[in-house]
Amino acid sequence: MRAVAITAESAPPTLIELDRPKPGAGEVLVRVKASSLNGFDVAVANGYLTGMMEHKYPVVLGKDFAGIVEDLGGGVTRFRLGDEVFGVVTESVLSSGSFAEYIVVNESASIYAIPDGTTMSDAGAIGLAGTAALDSIDAAKIEPLDVVLIVGATGGVGSLILQYAVEAKANVIATATPGIAAEFVTDLGAVATVNPEEDLAEQVIRLAPGGVDVIFHLAGDPSRLPLVLSERGRIISTLGYGADKHPLATAIMANPSQVTLAQLAADMAAERIGVAITDTFELDQLPEAITAFPDGTLGKHAINIA
Ligand SMILES: NC(=O)c1ccc[n+]([C@@H]2O[C@H](COP(=O)([O-])OP(=O)(O)OC[C@H]3O[C@@H](n4cnc5c(N)ncnc54)[C@H](OP(=O)(O)O)[C@@H]3O)[C@@H](O)[C@H]2O)c1
Repeated sequence: MRAVAITAESAPPTLIELDRPKPGAGEVLVRVKASSLNGFDVAVANGYLTGMMEHKYPVVLGKDFAGIVEDLGGGVTRFRLGDEVFGVVTESVLSSGSFAEYIVVNESASIYAIPDGTTMSDAGAIGLAGTAALDSIDAAKIEPLDVVLIVGATGGVGSLILQYAVEAKANVIATATPGIAAEFVTDLGAVATVNPEEDLAEQVIRLAPGGVDVIFHLAGDPSRLPLVLSERGRIISTLGYGADKHPLATAIMANPSQVTLAQLAADMAAERIGVAITDTFELDQLPEAITAFPDGTLGKHAINIA
């Protein structure tokens, strides 16, 4: 099978041929049809996790997957051949990944049925970003009319948090540079935008003199964010800005449990959230796309695996 992997420490991501994996007891073989790029993949490709997580080379990149169950290991009860499934690769050792034509997943791991009416590409782009968004939203406990600031609203996680926050009847201020990015977040329901290239605190206080009730910190330096909090304000961060750094901050570590995937599936099916896919790559374009990813992302970059 074709896969995009790093074959040794410091090696660049490349398209390679690997043996198709076989499902063991309790595992399913998924023919991967779609995935998406996450910052995590870029971090692995750049060697940032060397020494932090065990690497078993070749390390196939990719966290998100959507595809079709093509083979079953012994004792599998949750899935049948032909089922359409999505999820997130959660193994603690880096080796197997979803930027490949096939992946083996334990049926008790992060895998769930794609709901009727949801496309493979949407299901393949929701896993990790959707989980981070939902876990952040759960932690935020937004109340109607809360003023919410999303720093990093233009990205994969931010664009989903924005939709959940609008649905919770919050007034959302989103970071976005003027033009396409500002239009993108306004279309998703932001009532105002602030330019991340200018003084954020100054712009936010002008828009919300009473302060912001919830700040989602998904990008940039958080050190000045507490300045714009309202009296009952709190900060939710996917970048490790937690209670050890500020008493009103909570750091989120996305946990793609089956309960969370079920919620994401239900929310996609009900069109409560949509995946904002702005670009799609084929497997052989991935090494280049991974290199280009940090240069500016709007929504999700999807991957089609034919
Ligand atoms: N803790 C967890 O479990 C977990 C899970 C998922 C993701 N994450 C992390 O959460 C972050 C967001 O994830 P993501 O998937 O949404 O990433 P993403 O798709 O790369 O989005 C980040 C967005 O933030 C924007 N941005 C960059 N610098 C900014 C700044 N100073 N102020 C405002 N906006 C800025 C980017 O715009 P430009 O590209 O135009 O600069 C981009 O649109 C990433 O760092 C990711 O690694 C953590």
